[in-house]
Amino acid sequence: MNNHKLEPHLFVVLGATSDLMRRKLLPALYHLQAKGYLKERLLILGASRRTDLDDSSFRALALEALEEAGLAKMGEPLAWCADCLHFQPLDPGSPEAFRGLAERILNLEQKYGLPGHRVFYLALPPGAFGATVAGLGEAGLHLGPGWTRLVVEKPFGQDLPSAQDLNRQIHRYFDESQVYRIDHYLGKETVQNLLIFRFANSIFEPLWHRNLVKSVQITVAESQSVGRRGGYYDQTGALRDMVQNHLTQLLALTAMEAPVAFTPDAIRNEKAKVLQAIGPVHPEHAVYGQYGAGRVGDREVRAYRQEPGAAADSLTETFVALKLLINDWRWQGVPFYLVTGKCLPTRLTQIAVTFSCPPVPFFQPYGFGSCNPNVLVFTLQPDEGFDLHFEVKSPGEPLHLKTQRLRYRYGEVFGALPEAYETLLLDIMAGDQTLFVRADEVELAWRIYAKLLENPPTTLFYPAGIWGPPAAEQFMEWPDPTVLYR
Ligand code: BG6
Repeated sequence: MNNHKLEPHLFVVLGATSDLMRRKLLPALYHLQAKGYLKERLLILGASRRTDLDDSSFRALALEALEEAGLAKMGEPLAWCADCLHFQPLDPGSPEAFRGLAERILNLEQKYGLPGHRVFYLALPPGAFGATVAGLGEAGLHLGPGWTRLVVEKPFGQDLPSAQDLNRQIHRYFDESQVYRIDHYLGKETVQNLLIFRFANSIFEPLWHRNLVKSVQITVAESQSVGRRGGYYDQTGALRDMVQNHLTQLLALTAMEAPVAFTPDAIRNEKAKVLQAIGPVHPEHAVYGQYGAGRVGDREVRAYRQEPGAAADSLTETFVALKLLINDWRWQGVPFYLVTGKCLPTRLTQIAVTFSCPPVPFFQPYGFGSCNPNVLVFTLQPDEGFDLHFEVKSPGEPLHLKTQRLRYRYGEVFGALPEAYETLLLDIMAGDQTLFVRADEVELAWRIYAKLLENPPTTLFYPAGIWGPPAAEQFMEWPDPTVLYR
C-alpha cells in the first residue's frame, strides 16, 4: 500500500498447478511485469505434486493461462515465461522433497545471482497448509540468507480452534512479521479507499459515531451460483466463505478508530480492537438461506442441492444476514447488518452508512415520511464509487422534497482499477503487511461467529434470483430504500 522499493528475489508458489495460480497469480505477476512494476530480477519457482512437468511444460501451461486471461498480446509473454518460470515437483508429505526444493532454490539463486530473498506462497487446499509449513520449516526454508515471507491463502481455519492450531503451526517456524494472510478484498482499490476516505478527509469523522449514525449495512451480493465449487462449498457455507473474512474485514475498516500512524501494525491494532469489541452473534440475530431453482436475469439456475458436490439434503447456507453490535464508546447501540448471498438478483458490494433523522419531522404534515435520513453509500464493486444521499426541495409549488445524490465514480476519473491480486502481490514483494490479516485478527473474527457455528439458525429456502429469504427482509427492515441501494 505504501511505495516501497522492490528487491530481487525468488517467488516460490506451492500449488503451482492450482486454479488460483492459473486464474489469478500468473496473470497478476505477468501484468505487473508488463506494466513495468517489476524492475528488479524476479524468478518464479512453481512447485506441485505433478511429476509429469518440467520447466518447459510448466512454461507452456503458464502461457496458456496468460492467453486465457487475455494477456497474450501484451508485452512478450513467451520471453517472460522462458526467462522467469521454473518448476520443481514436490510431494508435500515427503521431507526429502522439501530438501530437494531447498537445493533447487540455492541452485537457482546462485545461477541468477539472487541475494537469497524468498517468498513462499501457499496456493494450496487448506488441508495442506500445516504439513507444508512444517515441510518448509524442517528443511530450514523458514530462514534464508535474505528475508523470507510466507503467504497463506484463505480459508484460514474452519473455526476458532482450527485457526489457532494453524497459527501455532506457522509460528513454530515463522515469525508473525514474515506472515501474509490473504483476504483478497483488502487488495481491492475501493476497500483500501475506505481508509483514505475516512482519514484523509475531516468532514465525516465527527459524524462517524453512535450519536449520528443510525445503522450500517454491509452487503456482498453475488448473482453467481456455487457452480463447480459444490464440493468445497458444501463443507464451508457462506458464513465461513464470505462473512468471517471479507465482510468482517469491511466492517473493521468501517468502524475502526484512527490509527496512531499509517503503518501496518498501527492500522491492524485498530482493526483488532473493533473485532474485540463485538460480542458473539447469537442465532436469533442471524438468518440463513439456501437457493432453490430459479432464474437470475435471463439465466435458469438449478437448486443448490442439485449442484455437483452438494448433498441432496444439504442445509449449507448460501445466504446469510446478521446483526452485529460493537460494544465500544463509538458504536454502542448502532446495528451493523452484514448480508451476503449467492444467486441474488445482481452482483453488488456496498457499505451504506445511514445517518440519524432530523430531530423534528417538519415535513411530515406535507406528506413526507418522518425520517428521510442522509446515507453515504460506498459501492465497492461494480461501478465503483460513492454517493451521498440528501434531501432537496423540488422547485415550485406545492412543497415537494426529493432525495438527490452527490456522486463520484472511479471509472469516470481514473479508468480501470488494478486487480486486487496485483496490489497484494506487490505488497508482499515490498514487505508491506497493511493489507494482510494478522494472527490475532483472524482468531478474533472466528470468535465472533463461534456460537453460530455451534448452533446455526434453521436454513430457509429462497428461489434463485430474489434477495434471499423473506425473513431476512423483516429482520433487517430490508429492502428499505434507505438501507440498500441497487
Ligand atoms: C471468495 C469466495 O473468497 O470470494 C467466493 O470463496 C466468492 O465464493 C468470491 O465468490 C467473491 O469475490 P469477488 O472478488 O468476486 O467479490
